Amino acid sequence: MISETIARLDHLARPIITHFAPETATQIYSAGRNVFLSAYFAEKPAFVRIAEEHAVTCWGIEFRNGLMNAAGLFKNGEGYELSYRQGAGGYLAGTTTTHARTGNTRNGIAKPFAPYPNSRAASNWLGLPNSGHAAVAKRLSAFPHHAGFPMGASLMTAPESSGEVALEELVAGMQMYDRAGVHFLEINESCPNVAHGSSSFEAISERLEFIATAFLKKRLRHLPVVVKFSNDTATQDVARLLDVLTTLGYDGVNFGNTSTQYAQHRTTLNPRDYASFDYFTSTFGGGVSGEPLRACSLALTRSAKEYLATHPPREEFHIIRTGGVASALDLAESRTAGASLAQWYTGLFEQFAEHGHGLYARIFQG
Ligand SMILES: Cc1cc2nc3c(=O)[nH]c(=O)nc-3n(C[C@H](O)[C@H](O)[C@H](O)COP(=O)(O)O)c2cc1C
Repeated sequence: MISETIARLDHLARPIITHFAPETATQIYSAGRNVFLSAYFAEKPAFVRIAEEHAVTCWGIEFRNGLMNAAGLFKNGEGYELSYRQGAGGYLAGTTTTHARTGNTRNGIAKPFAPYPNSRAASNWLGLPNSGHAAVAKRLSAFPHHAGFPMGASLMTAPESSGEVALEELVAGMQMYDRAGVHFLEINESCPNVAHGSSSFEAISERLEFIATAFLKKRLRHLPVVVKFSNDTATQDVARLLDVLTTLGYDGVNFGNTSTQYAQHRTTLNPRDYASFDYFTSTFGGGVSGEPLRACSLALTRSAKEYLATHPPREEFHIIRTGGVASALDLAESRTAGASLAQWYTGLFEQFAEHGHGLYARIFQG
């Protein structure tokens, strides 16, 4: 299929393209990514069946396996049927915001993205391009519900709104997805590529309290809500964040989003990717994804599990691991560390380049 061919050629070309000036390579990848994704979203590969033994039940909802796409891949509700056919355990649309957004542009580069092909990593400074809660909720409402393949939506407060207005808009978005019939919601509390209120513990707690009062406590059906934090979350903050989530009635936590700890991650990269990395992080900043996050997401998952073991929540509560997941081994480690579910983005495309639409089959074969 076309996207498989593009991905394979890209995989071969990446080491060469990284010899280009970093600005040129970023231009090529930022533009090329959109071309690739259009082809990817449109494809209808043969249906892949994953063995039933991999099914996971969370909140009474069956996921036919514990691995699904991370937020930001299907921002506008694309790829639902594609993911189902590939064998994903669930589907996550978004992140969406109240108003449609075109994303970031700097130095003539729109939605900047750079892979680090020698390090199984990437950076992006997309800036949450999306067509808005209402448009995406409408799209999702028309999808057929496949058994064992729950559909979720990721939302975030609009960067251009502030205070209670931003939170009221977010809650309105959650209500739209509720009416659209999604099976779970994920609040993105951690996008490094847009401004979205203070990231102090107190400010996060206030926002979560507002959402709990305005939405969680008024739910008329069983609609789990999880909160996604950054992979940069300090281990010592895990306990107090979990206290807030479990006390307020949230249903899970996701560790987590991309990282801005550039100096720390640079040391883990292949030196051949230094030039691209230094150019990207000094020009755009952005969030680092992929292999450099593998240890952070695993450590945060472990800490969360340990804390919950000694402070059991009153209601069913799940940990989702995101960051550097790219193999069957990563998935097994996630489970052992305490994650019920895992999400992938950078690793998904690493696997796609090698195994095409058979990427989930490959993971679960292992
Ligand atoms: C291009 C790109 C866009 C992303 N957009 C979003 C987003 O809209 N919302 C979100 O919560 N996370 C977003 N993320 C973060 C991913 O969901 C994920 O948390 C992060 O990439 C770490 O996982 P990975 O190592 O498997 O890539 C994005 C990541 C990438 C690479």
